[in-house]
Amino acid sequence: MIFDPITICNMDIQNRFVRSATHEFMAEKDGKPTSRLGDLYEVLAKNEVMLIITGYSYVLPGGKSDIFQQGIYEDRFIEPYLKITEKVHRYRSKIVLQIVHAGRQATTSEEYLVPIAPSKIKDAYSAVMPREMTEQGILEVIDAFTRAAARTKKAGFDGVQLHCAHGFLLSDFSSPYTNRRTDRWGVQWKTEQE
Ligand SMILES: Cc1cc2nc3c(=O)[nH]c(=O)nc-3n(C[C@H](O)[C@H](O)[C@H](O)COP(=O)(O)O)c2cc1C
Repeated sequence: MIFDPITICNMDIQNRFVRSATHEFMAEKDGKPTSRLGDLYEVLAKNEVMLIITGYSYVLPGGKSDIFQQGIYEDRFIEPYLKITEKVHRYRSKIVLQIVHAGRQATTSEEYLVPIAPSKIKDAYSAVMPREMTEQGILEVIDAFTRAAARTKKAGFDGVQLHCAHGFLLSDFSSPYTNRRTDRWGVQWKTEQE
């Protein structure tokens, strides 16, 4: 079965060997993917891993969680990613870009002093108290994810995966622990009795 082809949405995949999203930290400091990253994916593709999910790629400079993490926050990233997807497609493998905003776990800098989150709940991992996002801020992040997904397509990826786990921004929106909002972006979890 593991050698059988499978179709996921419009992706015809030649077998079921999948490389789960795993950060590589092979980008330049500004998030531009390097050719080393392409070389790594090429080895996977050459060895018949027919679906590769990339490491998490940040959609805004303020949504980065680690140095040398890859980004997709500007159009100038399309070209280097295109070179990578072309390499992978030579072996008929598919490649999906995972996109993320690190939210409360974002790296702080002079430019990005306080990380953002749906609510002001301290991050247990970093002990950082985030800033609650405004309506306008939420719309900007949605726009950044949309633009990142569009770049992904232009860069030749076969799909895009949203990173909705590990305490990053999207997972914080879906948890009632980290999302205490009462506006339209809040989460209401109903019990069976309700
Ligand atoms: C070094 C390392 C980096 C990872 N990077 C990511 C990542 O960028 N995005 C993600 O969604 N998961 C990431 N993961 C989680 C893996 O994709 C996977 O879900 C996890 O290792 C559990 O899979 P397993 O039970 O097959 O080991 C990472 C895991 C490891 C060990």
